[in-house]
Parts: sequence; C-alpha cells; structure tokens
Amino acid sequence: MKVLGIESSCDETGVALYDTERGLLGHRVHSQIDLHAAYGGVVPELASRDHIRRLPLLLREMLAVAGCRLDEIDAVAYTAGPGLAGALLVGAGVAESLAMALGVRTLPVHHLEGHLLSPLLSAQPPAFPFVALLVSGGHTQLMRVGGVGEYELLGESLDDAAGEAFDKTAKLLGLGYPGGPQLARLADRGRAGRFRLPRPMLNSGDLDFSFSGLKTAVLNTVCAPGWRTEDAADLAADFQQAVVDVLVEKALAALARTGLTRLVVAGGVGANRSLRARLDQAAKRRGWQVYYPEPELCTDNGAMIAFAGAMRLAAGEHGQTAGRIGICPRWPLAEVGKPA
Ligand code: KG4
Ligand code: ZN
Repeated sequence: MKVLGIESSCDETGVALYDTERGLLGHRVHSQIDLHAAYGGVVPELASRDHIRRLPLLLREMLAVAGCRLDEIDAVAYTAGPGLAGALLVGAGVAESLAMALGVRTLPVHHLEGHLLSPLLSAQPPAFPFVALLVSGGHTQLMRVGGVGEYELLGESLDDAAGEAFDKTAKLLGLGYPGGPQLARLADRGRAGRFRLPRPMLNSGDLDFSFSGLKTAVLNTVCAPGWRTEDAADLAADFQQAVVDVLVEKALAALARTGLTRLVVAGGVGANRSLRARLDQAAKRRGWQVYYPEPELCTDNGAMIAFAGAMRLAAGEHGQTAGRIGICPRWPLAEVGKPA
C-alpha cells in the first residue's frame, strides 16, 4: 500500500510517499526559515500562505522522484494537529480534497506521533515498548510507548518547551531565527561552567520539566553590570549544558521507573549534538539503547506522517471517508488511541 503523507503544522512543508512493502519512496521538505527570519519568529499567516504555494509543487516533485502517479496512492495521511490552525487547515484541505478526487481514505495524524514513530524508519529500528523523549519547539514530553496508539504521558514541561527555551535564549543573545541550531553552534565554541545556571526541577522527584526560569537566569546574566558580549559563547555553553543535564537525568529516570531499556529521542532538539553525546554515554554505561531518527527526519517532515499513517493502517485502522476537513490545533498525544 502506498500512503501519501502531508505535513504543514508550522514552518515546514513536507510531503512523502511511504510504501508498506518497499519503504520510503520519496520525500521533500521546504523550510520557511528565510520567509520568517526577518520577523524573528514564525508569522502564522505567512506560514499558511506559503504552504498553499508550496504543497502542489512539492507533491509533483516528490511523486516524480518516487516514480509514482497520483492514481497509485492508496491513502492520504496528514498532520491534523497540534500546530498553527491556518497552517494545519492548508494541509488538511489539500489532503482531504486530493483523497476525495482519488477516491481513497484519509488518516488524520498527530504530529508528535509522527515524531515518535520516526526512528522506526531507520535501518535499526527500536522494538516496542520504549520510552520516548519528545523535544520539539512546542513540546517536551516523556512518554511510555507500548505500541501504535499506546501512549502514556510520564512527564512534561510545565512552561516552555526545550526548543522554545533554546529559541528564546538565542534571541536574548542576539542570534537569529531559528535560534536552537544557532545557539548550539555558539555553545560548541564556548566553555561551560562559568555561569552557574540553575537546573530547574532536576530533583523534583517527578518526570516534569520547567525551562522558563533558565531563560530568565540568562536574561539576568546579560543584563547584569559587567556583562561582556564576548562571553556569549560561554553563556550559551552553560545554557545548553543546563538543558541537557535536565533532559538526560529525567530520561534516565523515566527508563528506570518504567523498567524499560530503550529510549527514542524525537523532535528538533533531538538533533542537538551535546544531548546525543550525553545520552549515548549514559545509556552505554547501563547497557541501554538510544534511538534517533535519521538526521534529515529530526525536524518536521512528511515522511514521519506518511509512516505513522501506514503504521496505523497496519495496526487495523481503516481511515476516514475523505472530505471532512477537521483539525485539532490543541491535541494531547495521550488522547490518541489505538487504531480502531
Ligand atoms: O520538531 P521541530 O522541527 O518542530 C516542532 O514541532 O516544534 O523542532 C523545532 C525546534 C526549534 O525550537 C529549534 O530551535 C529546535 O527544535 N532545534 C534545536 C536544534 N535543532 C533544532 N535545538 C537545539 N539544538 C539543535 N541542534
Ligand atoms: Zn515537530
């Protein structure tokens, strides 16, 4: 079966075709970074308009790469939430109308389900059950994943998401959008240990997170008398280390608490090299395994949505009759049930 995947929840337009027998046949992503850079963040209306412009072109290009015709598509999966309402509507509108024209069924997919299943697309996929550390621009969550649609929330951020903290701190340090990767690059040039930043909720005894205080600590540091901009790399290194300390500690605690030995890291912050190095090191010491998506599938893409749709079909879901454009801009992952 060939499942088309469409992702348009934020500032990346992604399309992909996943074949349940042959794997990923093609995928294309267009990033809107250049479009939003001048504003220092995502402008929702511009995002929606760009998705409208890009989707038909990307779809045509992707199908050409995949060597497939439109009428070979068996089902259309698309991100129905969470995300920006206007941006989601574009993907949902294209998916539902295309599926209607083709006479195939649709699968509305949860964006984070796409992220957390994406490591299963790699050469050495993890087996269920596993703990997933979801670290994106909008979410920081630890989930126990028993199978497709079996998601138990173990802990989450009470305020800013890890990616959001990276982005906001990058802004404080005068870096451009998107801040996360730029801050990480600056941190790699710095030396951690000078600025004693807090490790929020490190010893809270639960699996929740909080990152907004860390961002405030950075703000207080750069506003204090005697602050020198040439110290920005060292401060960035300290910030990154503080975030990584908390993420690693809580992820290990989640594994210990659930008795599981496999950790899946997904979402944009999962691309952070320092986070990966520390998790790998800590897991190796305990004989546990850490799994990541392929680097190009760490940030938003259509492949993870096509794959999640295919997994749901394989698990017995039938999809819905095309034509009903429904989105869920706010949608807790734990509410996603088993395929019915
Ligand atoms: O999963 P994603 O592409 O989009 C969302 O669903 O949010 O994640 C984007 C987030 C942004 O906050 C971005 O700054 C962050 O991931 N990010 C990083 C790195 N690469 C992306 N944060 C830290 N280090 C990185 N290397
Ligand atoms: Zn995402």
